[in-house]
Amino acid sequence: MTLYSKIIGTGSCLPANRVTNQDLARQLAEKGIETSDEWIVSRSGISARYYADPGTRSSDLAVEAAKNALQMAGLLANDIDLIILATSTPDHLGGFPSTATVVQRKLGITNECAAVDVQAVCSGFIYAVSIADSFIKSGAHKNVLVIGAEVFSRILDFNDRGTCVLFGDGAGAAILSASQQPGILATKLHADGRHSEILYVSGNVSGGVLEGSAFLSMDGQAVFKLAVKVLDQVAHEVLEKAELNASQVDWLVPHQANIRIMRGAAKKLGLPMDKVIVTVDEHGNTSAASIPLALDVGVRDGRIKPGQTVMMEGVGGGFTWGAILARM
Ligand code: UT7
Repeated sequence: MTLYSKIIGTGSCLPANRVTNQDLARQLAEKGIETSDEWIVSRSGISARYYADPGTRSSDLAVEAAKNALQMAGLLANDIDLIILATSTPDHLGGFPSTATVVQRKLGITNECAAVDVQAVCSGFIYAVSIADSFIKSGAHKNVLVIGAEVFSRILDFNDRGTCVLFGDGAGAAILSASQQPGILATKLHADGRHSEILYVSGNVSGGVLEGSAFLSMDGQAVFKLAVKVLDQVAHEVLEKAELNASQVDWLVPHQANIRIMRGAAKKLGLPMDKVIVTVDEHGNTSAASIPLALDVGVRDGRIKPGQTVMMEGVGGGFTWGAILARM
């Protein structure tokens, strides 16, 4: 009998502090940096984003998202036998110990299940779901908690208007369980380290001292061009693997970085924008959290229904990218 993995629950969490473009423009103006709601909306589609309080870590947002996903799945925390958490803003320096193990403890999981972080920046959730899918299909694990969680505001340089207006904080979770029904239909992952410096954090810590910058830096136009190209390629790769065509996709849930990239991806697939789940306007770019946050919004507002086919696609630092086709 073929074993599949299936998404049986989703959840998400946003911090309380909603910051509009106008709020941000006012804060930047105090430092003599000019930006405007008009510029941010027209270039990115973003109107607002959420910032966590200084005491809140990725694991705090992750735990709330996970609790919501567990509730939807009808599972208890101790039913989980693997946690995979995607983040570029882990609780601890160098992700040591992993934020996944922090989440395990905060959820009260005592069954000694495996827990690990995945680092693929904005493609992190796609990587994490693909890994979960393989583990479930191999029979190694049955109920996998996959989380994308970020406090990206911590690595933003608020003197760099080209990046600080784009990103926000949040977490999204999905529970994948072994099933005799599909499930995840196809996954495809890629990376090309030759493009690592178009979107990265240059710094490192040596002898307890920061060398380089702890802030994200990005060549926006280079990222934009590459993103549009590779998203289209990988979307077709998963369609081919699943032997489906784009017209059979009910919902596109892309990484929420820029509405113009999302429009480009949908157009190339021949999908109208009313088949695309868009949260970038309200959430900004939450990196590894953006896809599961958008997925949860679509599931909870009733647009994404059981039995429908969903394409998720992500792209980010590394350079990494990937896509997943899932039957809900
Ligand atoms: O999650 C990982 C994936 N990340 C992405 O997908 C991001 C991809 N890139 C983008 O989304 C876009 O490139 C941006 C939104 C970052 C920028 O849009 P753009 O149309 O590529 O603008 P640009 O960088 O070419 O900048 C145009 C102008 C520049 O001024 P000059 O040189 O033409 O005088 C910038 O200095 O806009 C200026 N600018 C701003 N003006 C007002 C840059 N940031 C701002 C700002 N407010 N916040």
